[in-house]
Amino acid sequence: MLHQQNLTVNAAGHLALAGVDVLDLAREYGTPLYVLDEDMVRERMELYVAAAREHLPAGSRPYYASKALCCKALCRMAGEEGMGLDVVSSGELYTALAAGADPADICFHGNAKTEADLRYAITERVGLIAADGEEELLRIVRLAGELGARARVLLRVTPGIDPHTFAAVNTGVVDVKFGVPIPGGQALAVTERALGLENVDLAGFHCHIGSQIFDAGPFLLETDVMTAFLAQVRERTGYTASVLDLGGGFAVAYEETDAAPDCAGMIRAIGQRLLERCREYDYPAPAVLLEPGRGIVAAAGVTLYTVQNVKRVPGGACYAALDGGMGDNPRYALYGARHSAVVADRAGEAPDCSVTLAGRCCESGDLIGENVAIQTPRTGDTVAVLTTGAYNYSMASNYNRVPRPPIAALRGGKARLIVRRETVEDVAAYDL
Ligand code: LLP
Repeated sequence: MLHQQNLTVNAAGHLALAGVDVLDLAREYGTPLYVLDEDMVRERMELYVAAAREHLPAGSRPYYASKALCCKALCRMAGEEGMGLDVVSSGELYTALAAGADPADICFHGNAKTEADLRYAITERVGLIAADGEEELLRIVRLAGELGARARVLLRVTPGIDPHTFAAVNTGVVDVKFGVPIPGGQALAVTERALGLENVDLAGFHCHIGSQIFDAGPFLLETDVMTAFLAQVRERTGYTASVLDLGGGFAVAYEETDAAPDCAGMIRAIGQRLLERCREYDYPAPAVLLEPGRGIVAAAGVTLYTVQNVKRVPGGACYAALDGGMGDNPRYALYGARHSAVVADRAGEAPDCSVTLAGRCCESGDLIGENVAIQTPRTGDTVAVLTTGAYNYSMASNYNRVPRPPIAALRGGKARLIVRRETVEDVAAYDL
């Protein structure tokens, strides 16, 4: 049941995250509440940094994909633990800079960056901009010229790989909105063009094949395709890339039945394959960038809710209606993504009920999960939904004008808020 390794049941029979009784947290901060085990976040960051240092060529480094959970505290943690930052919007870039990130450590992504995004990134001299195609490259050239700057860019390419995870986050196949396809020769043609442009320095290439990748297989395929592409580019143009960004996508276990992925092992395998291929092509090994998001924060987080009422539909499901829902966790509504849950008050008891965890929004699709095995819920119980550190807060909305929950971070057994609770005044603050 408690597959998340930082969860235990304490002497009172309550759920504890990183040793802290979550009922105390619910009392102190109210619900719904995102709770993040900061010690685990930092450990995960260290693990990726160490694996990159140990197994990948010199200069290699993981960048935290801040889309998974973006706030100033997380950007600070990434900097302190030696990670770069992957941002995809002016909002994420602003947050990173406001948190004191060194612009040189930032890579700016996105398939539809606006002029304002690009201007901001170029003006702040971010370390890398991943250009999504030829049009964007030309826009960067023009803006960099206007701003009297040079931009260091990666070209985002699509290697044509299907990692067999879920379709909504599949990004490496050819017919997607991201990047320039390698199959068919478009990526090579755009690279040739890029090498002749003013105001930009092509540092190398970026690709991202998808999310929730459990084993090294898809990454090895990606490494094969990308190194073959590097060799082809060099043969045609004489250009040698110094950076190869292989994106993110390292899986996490959401349910007991999910295998616990060995990300350090995957990185070791990537490093070995890269060196083999570079030797074969007699190609100087490029610095490898990785962009884990979920792998850093997902398993560090839980969300606490209070059960508002329980209803059993004769011949139907048992519904536990929560004080949150798709507004703070839209993953089930969007992708059918499954999260485990626990009644925190009776976490030591075996799950004896199959429940639909319902949200508070006025639509029937507002569910956190169906057929969730959980202790029989009662009104007033605190329910913890597990593995919610990634893509929950960052995808939250104010649907039905519900204020978004705060985030409490746990470090060394002590809690502090890193994002405060929104108020109804916050929600109406932009109304004129
Ligand atoms: N780099 C790029 C270019 C990406 O597009 C993504 C995720 C990442 C890195 C980080 O991937 P991760 O390591 O977190 O899997 N909202 C969805 C996930 C969307 C992921 C989009 N891109 C969810 O809730 O599962």
